[in-house]
Amino acid sequence: MKVLDAEFVKGFIQMAEDGWQKGWHERNGGNLSYRIRPEEIESVKEELVPGEWISTKTEVPLLGGEYFLITGTGRYFQNVIRKPAESFGIIELDEAGANYRICWGLENGGRPTSEIPTHLMNHEVKFRVTGGAHRVIYHCHPVNTIALTFVLPLTDEAFTREIWEMMTECPVIFPTGIGVVPWMVPGGRAIGVETSKLMEQYDAAIWAHHGMFCSGPDFDTTFGLMHTVEKAAETLVKVISMTGGKKRQTITPQDFRDLAVDFNLTLPEKFLFEKE
Ligand code: 13P
Ligand code: ZN
Repeated sequence: MKVLDAEFVKGFIQMAEDGWQKGWHERNGGNLSYRIRPEEIESVKEELVPGEWISTKTEVPLLGGEYFLITGTGRYFQNVIRKPAESFGIIELDEAGANYRICWGLENGGRPTSEIPTHLMNHEVKFRVTGGAHRVIYHCHPVNTIALTFVLPLTDEAFTREIWEMMTECPVIFPTGIGVVPWMVPGGRAIGVETSKLMEQYDAAIWAHHGMFCSGPDFDTTFGLMHTVEKAAETLVKVISMTGGKKRQTITPQDFRDLAVDFNLTLPEKFLFEKE
């Protein structure tokens, strides 16, 4: 089968297009990767032509030999649907996960996203903690979430609690909460280390003054998580804009505990603190 005819590739393209339509991907902002299933890579084998080995700038031995769909550095999400073979590619990792080679796409001198260390380290953590269930890592620049990183304390507790309060479904959709990485230089291994530490417990991690990473088992769930957090962030921006931050009423810690009972959730008590 041709790569562009495969369902998993169509899903990848559609997710990139949906993110573009949401306004989360100005210019080359954001990146997306998908850990390909063995039967999926087998189905497109005829089109794979491995190139030279290049450093991943990290090591992810648990992912040795895995194949990924991944967007290109400097390439635009806007163009994923228009120029797919230039905008993303299929890469294969060596056994140590220290090097990759491009097997399809990233045409005209393309390389995987500069955030490849963070993508691979997040994939490795999620591979371990979800028993291989998670396959998608998604990074974008959603405006309301970014705006909040100038206003809220840069702690997991503050962000999780404020975002949870904006919509009853939030703690149902991400009961473990949201992590926050303080401002760091992007594109390297150090920010990947900090982000992947958060991915041990969370499926969403915010990069202060930059954007957000989400992880999930498939394209819909991962996109849906990003959308849910960003929509709640938009609500909070409106609440703060209207009130200066003082809510007249909200969901209380006891409300969350009641929700947890009926929805069979475990909500960490560290997010259910009493406010002054
Ligand atoms: P890339 O173009 O290298 O994917 O970088 C975009 C980005 O969002 C960096 O954080
Ligand atoms: Zn970014």
